[in-house]
Amino acid sequence: MRKGKFITIDGVEGAGKSTQIDFICQYLANKDINIVLTREPGGSAIGEKIRTLLLSNSTGEMHADTELMLMFAARNEHIQTKIIPALVQGDWVLSDRFTDASYAYQGGGRGLSIARIAQLESWVLQSFTPDMTLLLDVPVEIGMQRVESRGKKDRIEQESLDFFNRVRDAYIARSKQYPERIKLIDAAQSAKNTSNQIQEILKTL
Ligand code: TMP
Repeated sequence: MRKGKFITIDGVEGAGKSTQIDFICQYLANKDINIVLTREPGGSAIGEKIRTLLLSNSTGEMHADTELMLMFAARNEHIQTKIIPALVQGDWVLSDRFTDASYAYQGGGRGLSIARIAQLESWVLQSFTPDMTLLLDVPVEIGMQRVESRGKKDRIEQESLDFFNRVRDAYIARSKQYPERIKLIDAAQSAKNTSNQIQEILKTL
């Protein structure tokens, strides 16, 4: 049923996802692969509205469970209306963030129970998982410097360094738990070197 490959890219803030996403799209396009680029939270009309609610500073404080459920509500819409139809058609899908971000941010960052996140995951995703996840890893201080240079921070970017260190630790822990799927990439080096690492990994797909 699923003919295309589903790749996700994740990591702490300022890990350089955008640059590497451009590289991946170009690399796959050169191989005549039709690639659908999408993102979370968002990726569908309803999902983008949920994204605005989640990331706007005007939203203010939100209960952590509400945040988690909104991430999964947006994800359900995204999977059903965009990701699965594209994969069935034979396109490849590259998602800028996916479920691992909920484990890292809401689990690691906000301290929600992993078991509860797993319950939502099995409800919304059933057995659906990415074919491959590229996890860009940088020390939080480096990532946050990049975020600061971009200007105004969104609701989640306002969190503390401690929060983002917990996010990073949770991502790394997941890459150890699922080493076949989640490829941990050192993104503290130059963008070119990071792209080279990604290229070698993509070849295996
Ligand atoms: P970004 O994709 O532009 O980095 O912004 C998305 C923000 O949403 C980022 O701070 C990570 C956060 N996020 C979560 O907290 N949980 C999730 O499940 C997802 C997909 C993103």
